[in-house]
Amino acid sequence: MSSAGKNWDQYVINAEEVARTSGFRELKDRIVALSFDLENPVVADIGSGTGLLTLALADRAQKVWAIDISERMADYLRAKSSSAGFANVETVVASAVSLPLVDDSVDIVVSNYCYHHLSDDDKRRAISEAFRVLRPGGRFVFGDMMFSVSVVDPRDRELLASKIRSISSRGIPGLARIVKNAARYATGRWEKPARSDWWASALADAGFTDVRVEPLEHEGGFAAAICPSDSDKVYRPLRDCSEIEIAEPIAARG
Ligand SMILES: C[S@@+](CC[C@H](N)C(=O)[O-])C[C@H]1O[C@@H](n2cnc3c(N)ncnc32)[C@H](O)[C@@H]1O
Repeated sequence: MSSAGKNWDQYVINAEEVARTSGFRELKDRIVALSFDLENPVVADIGSGTGLLTLALADRAQKVWAIDISERMADYLRAKSSSAGFANVETVVASAVSLPLVDDSVDIVVSNYCYHHLSDDDKRRAISEAFRVLRPGGRFVFGDMMFSVSVVDPRDRELLASKIRSISSRGIPGLARIVKNAARYATGRWEKPARSDWWASALADAGFTDVRVEPLEHEGGFAAAICPSDSDKVYRPLRDCSEIEIAEPIAARG
């Protein structure tokens, strides 16, 4: 199944390898640290991949909904979670922009490196979905790529330059990769990271409070926000977005 043209079913091994890198493990530790003081939370992991966050949270959670657009990622994670002995992990094939969960049913929504694959309109839809499913007072905590392809901002400029340096140091294959990435960027098929200030205002626009977004030293960033308490939680559905992605039906998984 694809998201914005990418067939994620073909990237399971790649996702598993990336999940083992120190950068991803550090992000996982930060996200998990902000979730562990809650007792028996119900968690939703969006773009769960091969389970970096899901498996780290499952032993203290009442339930983890591991939601991913790729059936193969879900299959892989189901096997891993079963090998870890978790009966409380439910893998669901669905899109971040349409979560098959009822309103106010989740204590923590987590995600890592999923949202930069969505257009900005879809990122807003995904934020709105996280807001809808969170119970009042619940938390939204995620890591993602956070920068823009720009030479104006010094951090963006330095990140872009260091990426180009690192890829071009690989010689001809590296240069070919730069050309390929430039073409993908020009045609809207490259990743679509947003800057940390974009995330801060999009989270606030959706109604989240206590919004904290922190660009990290590398290309990544970390965000945390709280869903307001009962009387202040006002869900604002997004109606006028250009591309609408329809979620797959829930695949019941035992
Ligand atoms: C880079 S991987 C990250 C996986 C995992 N969160 C981790 O940190 O190891 C991105 C994941 O997002 C999933 N994904 C991409 N677009 C999605 C969408 N629209 N809704 C749900 N999942 C999506 C992909 O299938 C993939 O598993």
